[in-house]
Parts: sequence; C-alpha cells; structure tokens
Amino acid sequence: MSSAAPPDEGFWLFGYGSLIWNPSVPHVERLPARLPGFSRRFWQGSHDHRGLPHAPGRVVTLIEDADSVCTGMAFRVPAHAAVDVLHALDHREKNGYSRQRHGLVADSGEHLDALVYIAEPGNFAWLGPAPVEEVARQIATSVGPSGSNRDYLQQLAQALRNLGTHDEHVFELEAMLQQFVER
Ligand code: BEZ
Repeated sequence: MSSAAPPDEGFWLFGYGSLIWNPSVPHVERLPARLPGFSRRFWQGSHDHRGLPHAPGRVVTLIEDADSVCTGMAFRVPAHAAVDVLHALDHREKNGYSRQRHGLVADSGEHLDALVYIAEPGNFAWLGPAPVEEVARQIATSVGPSGSNRDYLQQLAQALRNLGTHDEHVFELEAMLQQFVER
C-alpha cells in the first residue's frame, strides 16, 4: 500500500462492491480486474446506506490475505472528472472507508495502479467476522436509505456470476438468505 493523495490526472478506481453493478462514477473505460492479496468480506457496518444507526447492515470491505485474490472491476475516471468523483466517493464512503492505492491485474494482463476504498479493522463502523448464519440474518433484515441489505448482497452475487468469478463467502451468504425470508 502507498499513500492515496488526490490525483491531478485521471485515475483507475477498483470496484469490488456496489460499484461493480452500479458504476455510478463517470468513466471512460472499464476492465475486469483482480487485486491480489485481499479477500472480500461482509465485515463492515453500514449505518447510512444499507442499515440505520441503531440497526446497521453489513457491506463489503477488503481484508489482507496473502493467499487470496479479489475479483472486481476497474474504472478509468478521466482527468476532468477526477476531483468531483473523489469528493463524491469520500462523502459516500465516509462510514469508515479510506482511500488506498494498490496494484491490480486486469484480465487482459495489464497492470494498473488503482485507488481502492477499504474499511480497515477498528474503524468506528467495523463489525468484523461473525458466524455465517448471523451475518446472513443481519443482511436479510437490514434496510437503509440506499435500499435493502438483501438487495445489495443479491446484486453483488449476480454481478460476480456475470464476471465468471466464484466468491465462496458471498455465495454462501446469498444461499443462506433464503432461510430468513419472512413467510
Ligand atoms: C465498491 O467497490 O463498490 C466500493 C466498496 C467500498 C467502498 C467504495 C466502493
């Protein structure tokens, strides 16, 4: 990791969560890409998007894991939009995420230097690991201003299938959601 000062040129942004299926940032190119050394986990609390302050949902962050690779999508944000995009993302991800800079490998083999928003252990909204049933139940029952936590998980799982990637953590949670559907 190195520092992630605002770039004065365009930049690559790595999406590993909602950005994959909802690339809400202006971009001129997108490439499926991998971030080696990290795994995706529903370990970050969401009090402002997929949950509420008294009933947080769970959203993804990246955990350092030398044996893992996280698959996602890289977006090239052009220079003219760079400052506005960073302001918007810094605001949107104020619930514990910080900007980092990491090396990606695109499916084409190209190496990209990218900005990545990561919520690190110990931040104020950190929830951390929990038994999979507990995580699935929390996701099944949480709703926030951006919609249901269930929708976030299902959209992510579908987007990963579309990318042809298998993420055991995400798919296990998706499968488990069913048992918490209210009848
Ligand atoms: C994303 O990949 O969608 C994302 C994840 C965490 C913070 C910001 C964006």
